[in-house]
Amino acid sequence: MNTLDPALEKFLRGLPKAELHIHIEGSLEPELIFALAQRNGVKLDYPDVDSLRAAYAFSDLQSFLDIYYAGASVLLKPADFHDMAYAYFERARADNVIHAELFFDPQTHTERGVPFAAVMEGLKSAQVKAKAELGVDSELIMCFLRHLDEDAAFETLELAKPYLDDIIGVGLDSAEVGNPPEKFERVYAAARELGLRSVAHAGEEGPPSYIHGALDALKVERIDHGVQSLKDPALVERLVREQIPLTVCPLSNIKLCVFKQMADHNLRELLDAGLVATINSDDPAYFGGYMNQNFVETFAALGLNREHAITLAENSFRGSFVSAERKAGYLAQVEAYCAAN
Ligand code: HPA
Ligand code: ZN
Repeated sequence: MNTLDPALEKFLRGLPKAELHIHIEGSLEPELIFALAQRNGVKLDYPDVDSLRAAYAFSDLQSFLDIYYAGASVLLKPADFHDMAYAYFERARADNVIHAELFFDPQTHTERGVPFAAVMEGLKSAQVKAKAELGVDSELIMCFLRHLDEDAAFETLELAKPYLDDIIGVGLDSAEVGNPPEKFERVYAAARELGLRSVAHAGEEGPPSYIHGALDALKVERIDHGVQSLKDPALVERLVREQIPLTVCPLSNIKLCVFKQMADHNLRELLDAGLVATINSDDPAYFGGYMNQNFVETFAALGLNREHAITLAENSFRGSFVSAERKAGYLAQVEAYCAAN
């Protein structure tokens, strides 16, 4: 493994950043899974933390999703969602993530009988506390599970209606291949009518046509992952022209075998092509690290430099869903940090 210049590592760690691709259920550490299982009397298939962690050896997205949904089964009460999200915000603060847009998967919980209100109450109270005590800003993006059908997505959108002030947008996650974006065209149109912003996972394992589909059918403003875009030069040209941000998740891509090793990751090519790429952690409890771990490992393996880091941080704020005014404030923080470091 390549080493990273200690001065560059320090710069990366301290750089103010936004995280735009974090599934909050994917921040559930094994220790917290066991603590919540005990608190709620939920039986797990693993006898202890070590055996659960030992199962985190994935061959593809589906092999991960099976364990990820099992882990989320311990979440029942508002306090469980609160504790999970607040633990993430503490990690975010430690990594100088000053703004985070959290994905959550309501269907994973409502399907088990957990009220939508319980999910929202817990996540919201953690957001308020994180702002007050850690200074971390955040927004919520509600994801539809793409392995479920359109009707289920519409039911979820209906449940979200009382919470439109607390949810900034919709996303699309879970098993990508075989569940193309077009399946959710109508529900995205309905979400747009309600004033929600939109993103979708596309081009993680799926082909470039799914990225075209997310843009054309779903009219998304950002693409989650999007690393398969380089297979289609016309698509790359379009993404550059339209300045569509890609929320790239390097450690995730290695753990789910999208690339064999970090040295093979295409983030450098994405940046060189002029794409608005960002670095994110995806499911940090499962993939070996939070934001700074993603930065450090990617920069070491690909030989990226200070200019790349600044571009990535700026892209993260530019690609966020906050107001132009707040973006300017965050970008000024990046500038001030760079001037001082
Ligand atoms: N891809 C698709 N669905 C997901 C992921 C992911 O990386 N993480 C959680 N749900
Ligand atoms: Zn994801």
